[in-house]
Amino acid sequence: MNVPTLPKVELHLHLEGAAPPAFIRGLAREKKMDLSGLFSENGAYRYKDFWDFLKVYEAATSTLQRPEDYHRLVLAVLEESAASGVVYSETFLSPDFCGGRDLGAWREYLHAMREAADQAERQFGITLRGVVTCIRHFGPEKARQTARCAAETAGDWIVGFGIAGDEKVGQPKDFRWSFDLAREAGLRLTAHAGEWGGPDSVRAALNDLEVERIGHGVRAIEDLALVDELAERGVVLEVCPGSNVALGLYPTFRDHPIGTMFDRGVKVTISTDDPPFFHTTMAREYEELHRAFDWDEGVFEKIARASLDAAFCDDDTKSKIRAKLETVDA
Ligand code: HPA
Ligand code: ZN
Repeated sequence: MNVPTLPKVELHLHLEGAAPPAFIRGLAREKKMDLSGLFSENGAYRYKDFWDFLKVYEAATSTLQRPEDYHRLVLAVLEESAASGVVYSETFLSPDFCGGRDLGAWREYLHAMREAADQAERQFGITLRGVVTCIRHFGPEKARQTARCAAETAGDWIVGFGIAGDEKVGQPKDFRWSFDLAREAGLRLTAHAGEWGGPDSVRAALNDLEVERIGHGVRAIEDLALVDELAERGVVLEVCPGSNVALGLYPTFRDHPIGTMFDRGVKVTISTDDPPFFHTTMAREYEELHRAFDWDEGVFEKIARASLDAAFCDDDTKSKIRAKLETVDA
């Protein structure tokens, strides 16, 4: 199995979290910002736990101050993803970081990101679509402003709405208004749940926000009735095994519940979340899953097809990507 050449579909990637550390250091240097405390001696991002990770993430993101910075970021991120064999990427974008939730500014950032994505598509053969995310620990009022930005720019490129951030702050139902607005604008919905919260957090996201996909969702494994319900209802989990291992949810890939969930018929997909933070790439996720569960090319092809089915883009885009999944030279 030649992992890098297997065509992959990634549904859960935070754009700023995918920024290579050297890229952020370069921006900091240009802007004369001292961010040396964010990096370890070998140049990697340094953080203690998930909550510290969120702080480092936001500090690193403070170097991204103009639409041109996001243009460069999109190119750098998509080049990395394409090198892992990703042909379609759905990426979380945050108006909070792109112009402070001001609609006019958000449109300018979006324009720059789309231009970079078009260039990357020509250069690297990877297609990008955006899922606007509000940030849970910024609170429901800011989420409403974010949802308005999302609703106003919904279309063939901004295809979804979601929520990221600290799962331990507030409740999904606090964000219902924002999710209703996004749904009414035609956006498809996903929410982070079941990573730092247990099975009830997955139920709350499904029932209170009516999302069709769950970011992570892995802690549903603590309630097998819920796992079977996810399988029956066809709820798609955006599973990020390397992220969960890096943050200490599970000690190794072998201990990760994705194997059991797949066997019980849950629609699992594979993503990297914030790859340089978690020392991973899509190719590495595949390698580790192959080692842990003996998954072969057939399993990965099945997962890539299911991921594309669960993507939020339009049917024309899906047909184009499907053709790429079918032309694997084994
Ligand atoms: N989880 C939750 N919120 C986030 C993440 C993440 O991995 N990255 C950026 N915001
Ligand atoms: Zn995430």
